[in-house]
Amino acid sequence: MLALTPESFVELYSRQGHVAYAGEPVFHLAHAWQCGQLALYAEASPHLQLACWLHDLGHLLGPEGLTPTLEGHNDQHERVGADLIEALWGPMVAEPVRLHVQAKRYLVKRNPHYLDRLSEDSRRSLCLQGGAMNDAECEAFERSPHHKPALLLRVWDEQAKQPDWFARSANAALAQLRLVMSQVPLLSVPSSAMGSDRGAIVTHLP
Ligand SMILES: [Fe+2]
Ligand SMILES: [Fe+2]
Repeated sequence: MLALTPESFVELYSRQGHVAYAGEPVFHLAHAWQCGQLALYAEASPHLQLACWLHDLGHLLGPEGLTPTLEGHNDQHERVGADLIEALWGPMVAEPVRLHVQAKRYLVKRNPHYLDRLSEDSRRSLCLQGGAMNDAECEAFERSPHHKPALLLRVWDEQAKQPDWFARSANAALAQLRLVMSQVPLLSVPSSAMGSDRGAIVTHLP
């Protein structure tokens, strides 16, 4: 179970962030930090910076150390993460997360060189996720008001797999995550849905 609070997300990265991102040369916290840094350097909005930080949250909720793509399994981590994120911060953070897999399928269709830049695991998951979009899927993707931030996230996502780039410590990285979270207003939650604090809301993981 994961309490639906910003701090519970930070704690999840504190507990699970050391786990290797299977198939990639980074651990999960470094991947999240690198993606957040690239968004920060590009002067992205706090909402998009937070989306970049949390885009693979869903991977952290699966079995530790598993490489689902090697087993031919699409873990749908983008949906799992986006559903949790949306409840706290709404669609401006959640939708780029939800669309970051579709953004890969879009970019493979639209940019013939994009596939060459994908990591091995990203190519493997692409097959499980439906491969390149067709024209109708591309047009539907472009109609989403969130497709542009999703594409930015996707480009930074692929760049955020550098083996020797990280904050000075895990605690320093987590402090940066808390800072970004503090810059994005939380959605208001009906008082009837809350106990003494937001930690009373608990979600059951898949
Ligand atoms: Fe992802
Ligand atoms: Fe990622």
